[in-house]
Amino acid sequence: MDLFCYREGRLWCEGVAADELVGRYGTPTYVYSHGTLVHHLEELTRGFAPVDPFVCFSVKSCPNVHVLRALVERGAGMDVVSLGEMHRALAAGCPPERIVFAGVGKDDAELRAALLGSTDPAYAGPPRPIAMINAESAAEVDRISRVAAGLGVRAGVAVRVNPLVEAGGHAYIKTATHASKFGVTFDQCAQIAAAHRGSPSVWVRGVHVHIGSSIATADPYEEAIRRVVGLVERLGSEGTAIDHVDIGGGFAADYTTGQAPAVPTYAQRVVPLLLPLRRRGVRVMLEPGRMIAGNSGVLLVRVLYVKRSPEKTFVICDAGMNALLRPALYDAFHFVWPARVGPEHTPARRERAPEMPGLVSVDVVGPLCESGDFLARDRALPPVEPGDVLAVFTAGAYGMSMANRYNSRGLPAEVMVSGESSRLVRRRETIDDVIAHELGAG
Ligand SMILES: Cc1ncc(COP(=O)(O)O)c(C=O)c1O
Repeated sequence: MDLFCYREGRLWCEGVAADELVGRYGTPTYVYSHGTLVHHLEELTRGFAPVDPFVCFSVKSCPNVHVLRALVERGAGMDVVSLGEMHRALAAGCPPERIVFAGVGKDDAELRAALLGSTDPAYAGPPRPIAMINAESAAEVDRISRVAAGLGVRAGVAVRVNPLVEAGGHAYIKTATHASKFGVTFDQCAQIAAAHRGSPSVWVRGVHVHIGSSIATADPYEEAIRRVVGLVERLGSEGTAIDHVDIGGGFAADYTTGQAPAVPTYAQRVVPLLLPLRRRGVRVMLEPGRMIAGNSGVLLVRVLYVKRSPEKTFVICDAGMNALLRPALYDAFHFVWPARVGPEHTPARRERAPEMPGLVSVDVVGPLCESGDFLARDRALPPVEPGDVLAVFTAGAYGMSMANRYNSRGLPAEVMVSGESSRLVRRRETIDDVIAHELGAG
């Protein structure tokens, strides 16, 4: 569900028309719906309510501080994977106690910040450790132990394990296969727990899994969580009491209508497995990104040219893989449609091949010097002209967060809509911004 819809031939985000947003903020612009973000968070929290979930939004999916703040205000925690993401979470008002820190390559500065609850290198106040450091190797736990000992704190650690479950919409977003760099084996996890049992600087108290992204069925979760529950029992019998289980993120977003299962589809299969742990006081954590942010954002671009070659018609827009990398990187599908259409072209569903009169087959491409610079290929669209605005749907997750300055184009603007009001939450980068860090650097 999201609050982007067509009424009388115009695309609306909540109570604001897309063409008004373009008039005010220009293109390319990411537009987020506050109501959709909050609705998705609430849906997820409600679906998993029997296990009283601690929902930590995956910052990497949509890191704008104002997006994070909207979720923090509704009680979400934050899942971060770098010092920069932790900085964003704190800037959004998230208390350290609601932050979890994952990622395969944390350095001393990141661990220090996690244990102090501050990204300020000069911080000299009392330590306020984050909720959990999700460690990905034995060497990392040793490093956490050393940094924590230096600060005189005991670090709460969850060990990320690889449950060997194939899941995820694309090879690059599967994270729990034999070839995966993430996590450790169950045996290695048991060894880590044993090595640090009774340590004054490390408290191994959690198990973490994240099996991939864009997972559109509950089966792999069921499989992974069954294995994790078994591991928790094993660790308990070996003398390590686990009181946190983090099941990661990965829940799908709705790129084409009806593609993503509703929250209860996952929850009905997963909650019964977690309930016995919850009844024993184990805290259940989730790290959703895409499911919350994906359908909460669209990218608005403007058509510059319509170019016909003997083979194809290209709709050339003012942004492509620089603003939205997913089609180029993953061959990902995003529904693309004009922001203004005639009544015969009002889309009832967001689908690959809509059946409507008068559509033309086109490639929607960007202005960059790359053949992979496309937003949509071989797509049937209503005829468009230079100056028209196109909306790229389900762009809220891994959209702006993967945007780049390739070809020295500044990053897009970001706008938040709430009801009938809109506000700029990140100004468009200028060409001066693009070269700012180079001037005077050498
Ligand atoms: C450790 C971890 N948690 C959570 C997520 C969020 O995944 P998703 O956006 O698919 O929910 C990711 C994404 O890569 C991740 O690596």
